[in-house]
Amino acid sequence: MARIVCIATNKGGVGKSTTSVNLAYELSKQGKKVLVLDFDSQADTTKYLASLTASNQSYFIGDVLLDRKFDINDAIYPAVIAGNEVENLFIIKGRSGDAMTKLAMDMNSIPKREERLKLHLQKVDDDFDFVIIDTAPNANVLMMNAVIAAGEFVFPTEFKEHSFDGIENIITHICEVAFSEEEELDFMILPTKINRSATRALNYGKEYCSERFPDNVADSYIWLREIFADAERVHKPLSMFKPSSEAAMYYKKFAREVIENVI
Ligand SMILES: Nc1ncnc2c1ncn2[C@@H]1O[C@H](COP(=O)(O)OP(=O)(O)O)[C@@H](O)[C@H]1O
Ligand SMILES: [Mg+2]
Repeated sequence: MARIVCIATNKGGVGKSTTSVNLAYELSKQGKKVLVLDFDSQADTTKYLASLTASNQSYFIGDVLLDRKFDINDAIYPAVIAGNEVENLFIIKGRSGDAMTKLAMDMNSIPKREERLKLHLQKVDDDFDFVIIDTAPNANVLMMNAVIAAGEFVFPTEFKEHSFDGIENIITHICEVAFSEEEELDFMILPTKINRSATRALNYGKEYCSERFPDNVADSYIWLREIFADAERVHKPLSMFKPSSEAAMYYKKFAREVIENVI
């Protein structure tokens, strides 16, 4: 049975797409079969794992969600990075522009609109070890689909003032959508873009996390490093872009932590 992990927060720019791509890639490198779903309206994950020009001619997540009879397998493509297919890594593509906004509007009037992803994913449940869902920072019907399908959540967060508002908001939202209590949620907070030398922010974040979320903070930290922007420019995961860099280890370690976090 696939573990379905939703990467979410109510804030943009904190590292959701970076985490989705790098985590999925490292899981695949560690022998897991991984499917990535791009629910982000900027299609950032799709830019890493597929050619966006080709994507407009191929199926995307909207084709799956809008049509009860659509075979989800037809929308699953092998991931392609730098022109090469990646073993064990697959994607259901998103689309940029206004495609995702339009999709959310189209879905508002159809039956089972919040459960459609879950129902479609049941058909491929035995084919993958992990399904990773990258999301946009808004609470629309697409997000509801991601929440209802997911069994686990990763909340990337910075350690700046107000950073934790995004997590508090998303937890409240998920509890509403899933009709459950915070204690019942399986989630991990992943500190991202953390500046090692900003001591005050670092201490504030650590303290907030250990008091508010004593059991749910990842051991791995994704430190702030310029090399992430360099890797993003060429749409490569860190460990493919520069395997020898220290930063290449961050998501390798986090992937091991996710694998070990068996419920
Ligand atoms: N650890 C990091 N250090 C430095 N920059 C990072 C790091 N992680 C992500 N970034 C950069 O931050 C920006 C936002 O990241 P992204 O993953 O797109 O966020 P989101 O999906 O939450 O909007 C991107 O330009 C990305 O390259
Ligand atoms: Mg994103």
